[in-house]
Amino acid sequence: MSTKKRPAPISPGASPPDRPFGAGPIAGASLRDRLPTLVEAWRGGRGPATQGGSALGAREIDTAGAALLSLQRGLTGGRELAGAAYMDDRALLGAYLLYYWPVSYMQVSIALAEFPFSPRRILDLGSGPGPASAAVIDAAPSGSTVESLVLVDRSRKSLDLAAAIIGRGARVPAALATARLDLETAVDLPAGPFDLIIMGHCLNELWKGEADALRRRAEFLERASGRLSPGGRLLLVEPALLATSRGLIGLRDMLAARSWRVLGPCPGSYPCPALAAGPERSCHAESPWAAPEPVASLAKEAGLDRTAVKFSFFFLSPPTRAGTPPEERPPENRRVVSDPMLNKAGRIRFILCGGGMLETLSARADDEGARARGFMGLGRGDVVRASSLELRQGGGFGLLPGSELEILSRAPEASAPKEDT
Ligand SMILES: C[S@@+](CC[C@H](N)C(=O)[O-])C[C@H]1O[C@@H](n2cnc3c(N)ncnc32)[C@H](O)[C@@H]1O
Repeated sequence: MSTKKRPAPISPGASPPDRPFGAGPIAGASLRDRLPTLVEAWRGGRGPATQGGSALGAREIDTAGAALLSLQRGLTGGRELAGAAYMDDRALLGAYLLYYWPVSYMQVSIALAEFPFSPRRILDLGSGPGPASAAVIDAAPSGSTVESLVLVDRSRKSLDLAAAIIGRGARVPAALATARLDLETAVDLPAGPFDLIIMGHCLNELWKGEADALRRRAEFLERASGRLSPGGRLLLVEPALLATSRGLIGLRDMLAARSWRVLGPCPGSYPCPALAAGPERSCHAESPWAAPEPVASLAKEAGLDRTAVKFSFFFLSPPTRAGTPPEERPPENRRVVSDPMLNKAGRIRFILCGGGMLETLSARADDEGARARGFMGLGRGDVVRASSLELRQGGGFGLLPGSELEILSRAPEASAPKEDT
């Protein structure tokens, strides 16, 4: 962002977005086709199917809801299940399948909708029952095929389930292999090369509770990146809990300091200003979500708020032999990293991240000029460029009648269920 005195240049190659006030790309539309398979797999361990589609019967919701509550309590709060063998417990794995699988799928779908990438060879570390890989496969543009997928986990049960579920998708990888490995001790990872290495909700379970966990995770990722093809990247996803988000951001910063590129969602590879802002500060992605069945009913049964998909993620690429590739994004780009906030003075304010800093941008709530330029419709994850701004007393920037606000991209929107199932 810039003040009136120092207007930010409009980068020469940038064309105006097609739909300046429109919606973002829709993410995760294929989830609905996956849900019946998840329910069937869950019922497979509990006797013959009694219901069609992906909705559960009342007794099924009772059973699965109770297991979900145990799983949720164990993975948040004290997090005693994180790093434990919960995937080998039939009830907990079942709850994962019915509830967390669709959530993980949506998270990866949302990340890929904003940063499209179609890898031919994928390595999924800590795959569990395979939601992240399924999302990558489903997000590939028509005509492109995943040649090989390698799933790694220490739970044989979840690997077998992943292979079965992915094998029943509308699109399947040409080759699928599984490897049962303990990632903390494995000497060798599958050989590769891979275009994408994905780790969904697994990093926080590695070396959990150890004082040097961050360093060990960074070293692990550096070793894993040796399996990437030229131009290959890592996608790391973690829960939006304060501790896990901050842990992931700390890892991002550590790798960026070792010349890795942060390809997204941050506008640059600079040290994260939210992490530096204090121990209670973090950053995460969030998309409102009308959860489909059985997620919606299970959330209700277990008393969980499931009106949004929240998570932290980074696309990263390691340095090449030639060094760190040049930054391609203009330094003026700013990402909206907050929801709109209304202050006592009647101003709507967003926190923006860019250029290594957090800054605020505000306008009066009744400012029709700001509304006409799309300011009121901004949301978390949108990317903007603003210039000719007012530097406000007490800090932050304000939108003036002569200010420019360019909406460069909209955050993806989570696909809504089309019909009750
Ligand atoms: C929360 S689940 C995530 C599953 C899936 N990737 C997702 O995004 O939903 C974490 C997975 O990491 C695996 N995991 C945890 N520690 C591991 C280790 N030391 N070695 C291999 N896998 C591990 C667990 O077995 C589990 O399947």
